[in-house]
Amino acid sequence: MIDNKEEYFKSLKYAGNYIISRLEGRKVPEICLVLGSGLGPLTEVCDKYFSVPYSDIPDFPNSTAPGHAGTLIAGNLSGKDVFMMNGRFHYYEGYPIETLVFYIRVLGLIGVNTLVLTNAAGGINTEMTPPEFVAITDHLSFYCESVLRGQNLDELGTRFPDQSCVYDRELVTLLEDCAKDLGIKLSRGVYAYMKGPQYETPAEIRALRTLGADCVGMSTVPEAVCASHMGLRVAGISCITNMAAGINAGPLSEKEVLDTANAASAQSCALVKEFIKRM
Ligand code: HPA
Repeated sequence: MIDNKEEYFKSLKYAGNYIISRLEGRKVPEICLVLGSGLGPLTEVCDKYFSVPYSDIPDFPNSTAPGHAGTLIAGNLSGKDVFMMNGRFHYYEGYPIETLVFYIRVLGLIGVNTLVLTNAAGGINTEMTPPEFVAITDHLSFYCESVLRGQNLDELGTRFPDQSCVYDRELVTLLEDCAKDLGIKLSRGVYAYMKGPQYETPAEIRALRTLGADCVGMSTVPEAVCASHMGLRVAGISCITNMAAGINAGPLSEKEVLDTANAASAQSCALVKEFIKRM
């Protein structure tokens, strides 16, 4: 929780100024793409302006999750200037909640207006099978600590932000159009956020299904809530890497998640590239 707003703001500005200095006079990209599992190859096809380890950015946390590298890239992808977060921060890594979303506030303050969040998720809706895609239309997270808990940053947004449309409707439609044109299977869905790091129990998955969830994962929602608080446009894309607990026989494993995300990588990258191009 933020206990000193002035200090937190100073850190946000300091990190933002560092990033601006690394752009060497270029316009600040308006899009930030957060790379979930399987999207790493996009860092190779992007025409880079800079690539800096998070550890070089003042007050930026370091990412510790497996498969999450920890570099901020600015560059041109599909003809658009973008930031790419190669490696994200998860609650289960132990960060204070305001640290988890620090990067969004830094980038939002310097000019980013659109946040594209990608992730690997477990399929709850049995009509979804790995490795297909979900355009996130809404989420469930009322049982989790809010990233907005504590003093409100009035400079960024209101104390009680509306959440009736966290995920931009036009971006959902655009994503569907891109998937259709590329022949990639994508459906709309509600993402259930769980704090992890343990996978869910079969009973939890049954409960989440009853509550209206289509897929489940351990990321994205803190970022989406923080970004919507600041008035950013948010898009969320899940790659279904496994059926959620209790649906198929056998245990869930990180290996299955990463193997499927990697197998779907070419499709994920094609979808995101097209999405950015048409934005
Ligand atoms: N549960 C939570 N997070 C996940 C899953 C899952 O089944 N698959 C990929 N990330």
